[in-house]
Amino acid sequence: MFTRRHIISTRDFTREEIDHILNRAEELEIYAGGVGKGAGRKSDLLEGKILANLFYEPSTRTRLSFEVAMKRLGGEVINVSSPETSSAAKGENLVDTIKVVSKYCDIIALRHPKEGASRMAASFSSVPIINAGDGAGQHPTQTLLDLYTIKKENLLDKLKIALIGDLKYGRTVHSLAYALSLYGAKLFFVSPEALNMPEEIKMDLKEAGADIFESTDIKEVIKDVNVLYLTRIQRERFPDQTEYNKVAGTYRITTELIRENEGVVIMHPLPKIDEIDAEVDQMENARYFTQAFYGIPVRMAVLSILLER
Ligand code: CP
Repeated sequence: MFTRRHIISTRDFTREEIDHILNRAEELEIYAGGVGKGAGRKSDLLEGKILANLFYEPSTRTRLSFEVAMKRLGGEVINVSSPETSSAAKGENLVDTIKVVSKYCDIIALRHPKEGASRMAASFSSVPIINAGDGAGQHPTQTLLDLYTIKKENLLDKLKIALIGDLKYGRTVHSLAYALSLYGAKLFFVSPEALNMPEEIKMDLKEAGADIFESTDIKEVIKDVNVLYLTRIQRERFPDQTEYNKVAGTYRITTELIRENEGVVIMHPLPKIDEIDAEVDQMENARYFTQAFYGIPVRMAVLSILLER
């Protein structure tokens, strides 16, 4: 279904394809490590394969979970973890880098500050490119692990989700909104006016039949949803820092707020800054650390499907 394909945008997926990846992740979770019955188990499914992590923007979860996913499946990893430690610092362009690195490996995970960088890289690569985040564009494997988390909560077919925070620059919410339109989710967009979901994305979603409600106030929607999906205000994407200062700290999830909907599941792609009170981490509702762990089985699934022999 996917062998040797590039993974650039969630718009490129059908629901059937996403379900296939999520089912594979479930099969492979036994090898993802952590605690319990999977601890210490390793597979040789990708023995002899090499993943190149090319990260031109900071990352903790995506880069490390791709690395762990590959290693737990018996493969190997080569890394560029920042532009400063690669020949990009000497002025090499991305096209030349991709032409070279795609001859060193079997698959590339690329994070880049420029929207569209992964799609461009794909046209010069001899191996599959996985978009690991392109500026304010997309982050499709984050969406897959978000969907996996929602599926584990048995909410995928009855989802009412509030996407909260920076909907303008947040690539995780762009990717996720497109994918959720395939599942008939009711979407609540909560952001300051200056950080609304881009109009073209809303138009695409409406054309796909999505049910969308917009607000600037979490309290207006909290009782109507079963998932709160928080995002960080993406300071690094603001052309003008004074504009960032106007919206920084707009939303804060507190234990008091969560008590207004005791069953609500709280998700966040992380890193979080100040949008969730530390006490909320201890609540049953908080799923964001489990969500980050699911990056391993989901990226195992993506790697194994793309590199199937
Ligand atoms: N969620 C996510 O992309 O985290 P990192 O930036 O740490 O990779």
